[in-house]
Amino acid sequence: MINDAVLATIPSPCFVLDEVRLERNLQVFDRVQRSAPVRVLLALKGFALFHSFPMIRQSLVGASASSLWEARLAAEEFGGTLHVYSPAYRDQDLSELLDRASHLTFNSLSQWERTRSREPKAPPKGSTSIGLRINPLYSPVKTALYNPCQPGSRLGVLPEQLGDRLPDGINGFLSHNLCESDSFALEKTLQQIEQHYGHLLPQIQWLNLGGGHLMTHETYDVDHAIAVLCAFHDRYPHLQLFLEPGSAIVWQTGFLLSTVLDLIPTLDLTHAMLDVSFTAHMPDCLEMPYHPEIVGATVSENGYRLGGASCLAGDFLGDYQFDQPLSVGDRVVFEDMMHYTMVKTTMFNGVAHPAIGCLKKDGSFELWREFGYEDYRSRIG
Ligand SMILES: Cc1ncc(COP(=O)(O)O)c(C=O)c1O
Repeated sequence: MINDAVLATIPSPCFVLDEVRLERNLQVFDRVQRSAPVRVLLALKGFALFHSFPMIRQSLVGASASSLWEARLAAEEFGGTLHVYSPAYRDQDLSELLDRASHLTFNSLSQWERTRSREPKAPPKGSTSIGLRINPLYSPVKTALYNPCQPGSRLGVLPEQLGDRLPDGINGFLSHNLCESDSFALEKTLQQIEQHYGHLLPQIQWLNLGGGHLMTHETYDVDHAIAVLCAFHDRYPHLQLFLEPGSAIVWQTGFLLSTVLDLIPTLDLTHAMLDVSFTAHMPDCLEMPYHPEIVGATVSENGYRLGGASCLAGDFLGDYQFDQPLSVGDRVVFEDMMHYTMVKTTMFNGVAHPAIGCLKKDGSFELWREFGYEDYRSRIG
């Protein structure tokens, strides 16, 4: 963990990436790619802090993007293979996406058919490989907000829509149905794909198994995942396999530093008011919802209620007991705040946006970005 002297030099609030931990995670993906016939991409929707891309691209072959802007960032800052998938494309974005993407996946047959007839750069003329998102009809995800296979899902085509013959120009499938899942969920996903789409697999060249593979979690059985991928590849040796995790790449690789601005005792509890907002900076805490780990604190009914800096009534997290009683000016460190934080933040209420920095391998802190009033203003007009 970071030492107090370095912590004191970091402005508050601030997202801080820890290079040592990132390197440790990347080693897991090095091993997976060495041992299984699979290529791993960084899903920018989960983590797009491009200052760290020089390090990440030493291990991963490219990135996956869900929009034109993510695709541009991937092309400018990451390079390599670029998979693009969006639930629906804007007509005016398709030409540039076809220029940039090595693989472009459609969510529906109808948008692919329209694009094929309209876009001069679409195959067979262009070189981008075209894919379709399929619904594998299975997801272990219990929270509906994060379950792409919930009944009536708008994400991906169903087996009955495809029949026995894929439309001209389709060379690959994307299946994304996992979230912070284990290797057994991966195994089950592959079984589902074989069961529902197996007859179509000889017609495609690549299969992207999406994100949600939490390979860097301490309990993830990496050897089992490698065995599952190898066995699948033995059955379909012509298929190039891809994974596009976001969370797993930066799992437990950094924190959000905040400061106590006020303590408000009430009859039942004490509110510790912070200079960060759950809704603006850590939305998954409210959406999942979940309790992040806090350094020196544990979840406890008799603890402090942590108050976010916006006026939203629900912008709080309860309740945490701290090793030492809190005082105004104390720093509160939220662990594991790299994935789905910086890519999702807002400037709601004009709450100051956390700075972004990096804890370098030599233990020093490097400030990468600070935000000011002009950033807030320029988002609105
Ligand atoms: C299509 C697709 N690919 C990849 C990901 C990345 O997932 P994760 O960050 O859980 O690994 C997502 C997340 O929503 C996704 O929708």
